[in-house]
Amino acid sequence: MDIRVEAKPIQEVECDAMVVVGFEGQPPQGAAADQIKDLYDSGEFSGKSLEISVLHRPNGLKAKRLVLAGGGKRDRFDSAELRKISGAALRSLKPKGVRGIALALDDPFRAPEFAAAAVEGAMLADLEADRYKTDPKKNEKQVAWFAVLGASESAVSRGRVVAESQNFTRNLANEPSNVLTPTQLAERAREMAAQQGLECEVLDQDRMRQLGMGALLGVAQGSAEPPALIIVRYKPANPSTQDHLGLVGKGVTFDTGGISIKPAEGMEKMRYDMAGGAAVLGAMRAIAQLKPSVRVTALVPAVENMPGSRAQRPGDIVTTLNGKTVEVLNTDAEGRLILIDTLTYAQRLGCTHLVDAATLTGAIVVALGAVNAGVFTNNDAFAAKLMTAAKTEGEKMWRMPMDEEYKEALKTPFADLQNIGGRPAGSVTAAMFLRDFVGDTPWIHLDIAGTAWLDDPKPYMAKGASGIGVRTFVQLAESW
Ligand code: BES
Ligand code: MN
Ligand code: ZN
Repeated sequence: MDIRVEAKPIQEVECDAMVVVGFEGQPPQGAAADQIKDLYDSGEFSGKSLEISVLHRPNGLKAKRLVLAGGGKRDRFDSAELRKISGAALRSLKPKGVRGIALALDDPFRAPEFAAAAVEGAMLADLEADRYKTDPKKNEKQVAWFAVLGASESAVSRGRVVAESQNFTRNLANEPSNVLTPTQLAERAREMAAQQGLECEVLDQDRMRQLGMGALLGVAQGSAEPPALIIVRYKPANPSTQDHLGLVGKGVTFDTGGISIKPAEGMEKMRYDMAGGAAVLGAMRAIAQLKPSVRVTALVPAVENMPGSRAQRPGDIVTTLNGKTVEVLNTDAEGRLILIDTLTYAQRLGCTHLVDAATLTGAIVVALGAVNAGVFTNNDAFAAKLMTAAKTEGEKMWRMPMDEEYKEALKTPFADLQNIGGRPAGSVTAAMFLRDFVGDTPWIHLDIAGTAWLDDPKPYMAKGASGIGVRTFVQLAESW
């Protein structure tokens, strides 16, 4: 889909569909006002969020259709809402064979963040997880172009870069695990890094052994697929700070649970257990193009958690990279095991600030559902920065507690820590486990198990990987 800026006034734009936002109780004035008023008066369109109505041959426009998209209450409207509306409009028009879409925004909503969000919404909505469908007709109905009226080139271009990168993440997380093995994930990271002019280094199993990454290796040993620790580096030409942001993403390409095997039902979803890794790689892709002035390094431990004959057993004790020992009571709590060695390594690489993203616990789904990602931290000020970035980008996140008391649950007589803390507060004890390995380095952990995958399609996004995290990480680096 071609993304454009349209300089012509709304009346002059030739397109298949001109999208305008209609707020609750406030029919938009100007173009085709009479016909729009009829829609409001008849009750066919009320302006509720994500509502869509289509008018053919709008009066006074060269556009073939005028599409009214519900914006909800005008005083509550923001760029996050526009992102969804723009997506919902595209997803309702695409199956109708509409090829050229333009979006016109009213004056207060012409600011750059709105134009960027509109482009993002459209591009995110355009992505389908259908690359393995062989039906030749599947590509017949494609939107050829999407234009924003009166937008700045820079806003539209930022939106395009961010959305392409979020879609890169979604494509990775949607891949089936027979295709996207740890080796393949590393290959895709290498390819992306080469295209974007980033450095990429991949540590193999031998190197991990030399270094002593016992926790990561313990998870990997049950699979015939070798692990890979993917490292992608962005170095700004003129850094504005000595700070060095480390983005760590869980990269379990498939999580069977290992010997503590998961039930069959729903196990197919565990192909998105590398969504955190995919998110940090997608963020690096955008960062390479937007060039923030802070140094950023992404680290993705990529492994497959399988119950092979060499698999680790419940009760095994592993020695981690920083020397601490962990009793593996449940091999399905593998994410935290691969993350601790990676967090330790990130500190050795000089990262001064750490953010990890991981589909870490089913418990976060119980706590926050598919609405908010859980935010855990050892540094309130740093978390506040991330929360602001998330808000700006319309990614919903919620702070979770990390009181000392929760650490009790990880005590074992046999090693320094055990890798599970029982049913109560499962997401918090998982975060406490990670915290033990970051010391005083400002650190944030995002549990995205509930938000990285849409079980049902949304009006503005297809079923499958959501790409949560990418926009927040990009914004965090840009606003550093
Ligand atoms: N990958 C899962 C967490 C998960 C659950 C992701 C649902 C996405 C959707 C993780 O590795 C896991 O298995 N966690 C266990 C931890 C438990 C054994 C302490 C869980 O949440 O059940
Ligand atoms: Mn697991
Ligand atoms: Zn997992």
